[in-house]
Amino acid sequence: MSASAKEKIEELSKQIEEHNYNYYVLSNPTISDYEFDKLLEQLIVLEKEHPEYLKTDSPSQRVGGQVTKEFKSVKHKYPMLSLGNTYNETDLRDFDERIRKSGLTDFEYVCELKYDGVSISLTYVDGKLTQAVTRGDGEKGDDVTTNVKTISSIPLKLRGDNFPAEFEIRGEIFMPKKEFLRINEDLRKDLIEEGYNEEEIYEKQLKNPRNATSGTLKQLDSKAVAQRKLDCYLYSLLGENLPFASHYDSLEAARTWGLKVSGDMEKCSTIEGVLAYLNKWDTKRHTLNVETDGVVIKVNSFEHQRFLGFTAKSPRWAIAYKFKATQVSTLLESISYQVGRTGAITPVANLKPVLLAGTTVKRASLHNADIIEKLDVRVGDTVFVEKGGEIIPKIIGVDFTKRPAGMGGNLFEQEVKPAEYITHCPECNTELVRMEGEANHYCPNEQGCPPQVKGKMEHFVSRKAMDIDSLGSETIAQLYQAGLIKNIADIYELKKEDLLKIDRMAEKSATNLLQGIQASCQVPFERVLFAIGIRHIGETTAKKLAIYFRNIDAIRNATLPQLLEVGDIGDKTANTIIDYFADDRNIEIITKLKVQGLQFELSGEQMAHKTDKLKDLTFVVSGVFKKFNRDDLKKTIEQHNGKNVGSVSGKTSYLIAGDNMGPEKLKKAEKLGVKIISEDDFINMIAETSN
Ligand code: IVH
Repeated sequence: MSASAKEKIEELSKQIEEHNYNYYVLSNPTISDYEFDKLLEQLIVLEKEHPEYLKTDSPSQRVGGQVTKEFKSVKHKYPMLSLGNTYNETDLRDFDERIRKSGLTDFEYVCELKYDGVSISLTYVDGKLTQAVTRGDGEKGDDVTTNVKTISSIPLKLRGDNFPAEFEIRGEIFMPKKEFLRINEDLRKDLIEEGYNEEEIYEKQLKNPRNATSGTLKQLDSKAVAQRKLDCYLYSLLGENLPFASHYDSLEAARTWGLKVSGDMEKCSTIEGVLAYLNKWDTKRHTLNVETDGVVIKVNSFEHQRFLGFTAKSPRWAIAYKFKATQVSTLLESISYQVGRTGAITPVANLKPVLLAGTTVKRASLHNADIIEKLDVRVGDTVFVEKGGEIIPKIIGVDFTKRPAGMGGNLFEQEVKPAEYITHCPECNTELVRMEGEANHYCPNEQGCPPQVKGKMEHFVSRKAMDIDSLGSETIAQLYQAGLIKNIADIYELKKEDLLKIDRMAEKSATNLLQGIQASCQVPFERVLFAIGIRHIGETTAKKLAIYFRNIDAIRNATLPQLLEVGDIGDKTANTIIDYFADDRNIEIITKLKVQGLQFELSGEQMAHKTDKLKDLTFVVSGVFKKFNRDDLKKTIEQHNGKNVGSVSGKTSYLIAGDNMGPEKLKKAEKLGVKIISEDDFINMIAETSN
């Protein structure tokens, strides 16, 4: 039985590695993602049942899970040098000239793309990945082996048996552009749901794929690394007595061992060939799923490389050519202002369309009034546009030499008219406000400004909120336009005859919609709390508030200090809650929704709900409590599968300390190192990740 489990594990591991190779190295998958996941699942189950057969190089280890306390510093066997940079053809011809002058005549170059990520040195011993170290200061780097093992295109075990017993291979770990966009898009959706404005979202998003890669590799929890699909190209083989005459041949061999070597490297026999390679990739690089910032040119023969040697910092046989920053200048035709769901105003530059890094750019973010002022940007200016990390276009400055006279461009002009930021909302004409310390202007007309009202309704019906999926944003816009819904409470007053007045709304869809609305009355309190759209109250905070206060009136009546007692609620959030309930219009909406039967308190079932959250934990309860009487507190512990005991011992997990508790119990708990917590800590404990 066990023997066959061993064989099965080996067989599955082999199959999975083969598929990994096909998918990540060859980019040529032969099975579906679903089938792949099934195989991996089978392997994980078998390895769990037979931990004795779990190998460190099993493909199941790629899902991560191991947590590192800190990265060990490791000395590089061969220092990791950097390259000299060139930025133009002349510099490059000088490089070629220097090589010729050294006496080499018959030599060739290899051109490779310069990948913009984090350099890594991998060590393979007997075909197994034993170590992965970052560049660090070139002499010593961080041992990030555990994290690197989660990267699917890096083999844990080499293919075949034709590789040197020990070698290092270096390359660049990177985050594919699509993965970068995916992560930012997901993050953006979450932040929008939580009511963050554009500026805050911009601040919180990953800035560019290279930063994202280095941040990811520094994660201590390898599971977090596995979730962000990093990739790697290898470009340099090192070792003692390697059986290769040239760099190109060594990489071609490495490819046959299953290592991922880019197919875009090319041999060139002259500097003209190198220039043609540069020209080709200057634009073609934008079609790749990896950021590149230049080309690396290396003398191919190892003998020639040894002959040329090194300067103090870099090899004489290689050089980097950096692509020009992808920057263009174009005319700023106008500035428009977008009003977000939260009322935040985002200025957007409308540009004369211009080609930048492979895409046509027509619009760029101007972020906020401060940035416009700092850059002194004015409509009619020629502005420089750059793609931050090649992805988000932004305006980085004004070409003042091109500023037309009459706009301050003429030096003799006395009066210079700076661009004026709008003072009133472009949607509802309400005067804008700007909070102390905040970069953005806001339209304060939360209840009357169309994009804010529609945005609030869209959020209200969204999947994680009231989940009325038959009410899409288009229908909301139509109903709003027709004056049938002005706020979220109106949704519950909709009649069939109203709905039928709307374009393309047939009898059946109207019935469906009304049913969906009716069904939403059963949505539990914490989601209703999330749905009503209090600024900064995301899903998790709503859940915590619901469990802590149990009903909406308790939240409404809570004081600032009381709100601050809830885990993760800070001053800013607490104050927005207070402001929300201080507005009579909100109270009116809540009152109407209550009448319609929406859930504004935890259900009896929820209050009595049993979970396993306190499983295997023992509690001693002592003293007088403010939010519970002692029996309720004990009951709550049991509801979550915890155990109550009378006296403190070494086995006690927590002592929940109330006022006037027995000093002996406290002393004993302290002596035995039992954790002492307050009733609020306890509430936060059960509210954590509550479902
Ligand atoms: S070869 C002796 N090849 O660029 C230096 N480097 O400053 C050997 N890089 O730290 C480096 N793509 O992180 C080489 N195809 C490539 C590369 C490459 C990116 C990075 C690498 C290195 C830096 C050079």
